[in-house]
Amino acid sequence: MAVPPATYGASDRPPRGDYSVARDDYTCDQDWQRYTAAEHALFARLYQRQMRQVPGQACDEFAQALGRLGDGDRIPRFDDVSRVLRAATGWEIVAVPGLIPERAFFELLAARRFPVTVWLRRPDEVDYIVEPDVFHDLFGHVPLLFDPVFADYMQAFGRGGLKAEGLRSLQFLARLYWYTVEFGLIATGRGLRVYGAGILSSAGETVYALTSPAAQRLGFDLRRVLRTPYRIDEYQRTYFVIDSFEQLFEATAPDFTPIYAEVAALPPLPIDVRLEGEKLHPPNPARQEPVPQ
Ligand code: PHE
Ligand code: CO
Repeated sequence: MAVPPATYGASDRPPRGDYSVARDDYTCDQDWQRYTAAEHALFARLYQRQMRQVPGQACDEFAQALGRLGDGDRIPRFDDVSRVLRAATGWEIVAVPGLIPERAFFELLAARRFPVTVWLRRPDEVDYIVEPDVFHDLFGHVPLLFDPVFADYMQAFGRGGLKAEGLRSLQFLARLYWYTVEFGLIATGRGLRVYGAGILSSAGETVYALTSPAAQRLGFDLRRVLRTPYRIDEYQRTYFVIDSFEQLFEATAPDFTPIYAEVAALPPLPIDVRLEGEKLHPPNPARQEPVPQ
């Protein structure tokens, strides 16, 4: 039985999905023929809803790459996505039954293979789902794999995960995944933008993350992130803001071995604390929603 990795949403429940069809590396066939018309329609509905959040709120790299996933009118064939992705950055996507063990997950990333869950959420889960499904994995994660710097970050993360496992430091590294890959914000000349997949695939978190006074937005600091626990069942109280993917890549390039030791010796931080002298980014001004026609 696969253990849900701390890296993308740990819980006590056994993961959903058919693991009997998985190979040793936990990949499986997408079996595209098996999706029903209703599933394709639900995917299209999710895609259209989330598309509306993209202009002016998602980072440019995400917005520009989104179209390369296909038309959004049905669940894409993973092979088609992989073909364009391979040509762009050498990444490919592989089908998995659902959450997979950490080691298998990191090994795939280290080989520039991104695992995408095959199943789609049920209609009663359109607004909220605890585990990643094909919509979250594809819409949320795959666009940024077209960005060369972010693509290299993800591979470095895979290698770093294998190393952290040996150092028993996965709980710290999981926080970095959470606050960057899943819930990261980026500062631009036009204000804050979202690059985290967990936000961009969520029904309401994009507007909240960018504009809510209930959250704090701190400048990215590696040690601070490694010390910050997270909740998986509510909107975040704290986001970390990078200035560029280059900054993120460079800040995470040093050997983490001594940094893990440092962080392990410190007490965990309360989830929404602000430490003295920390850089706070102001939220974007609340947007006037267009009047529905
Ligand atoms: N530099 C990290 C290490 O030595 C590896 C890493 C890179 C982890 C990028 C996450 C992201 O452990
Ligand atoms: Co995810």
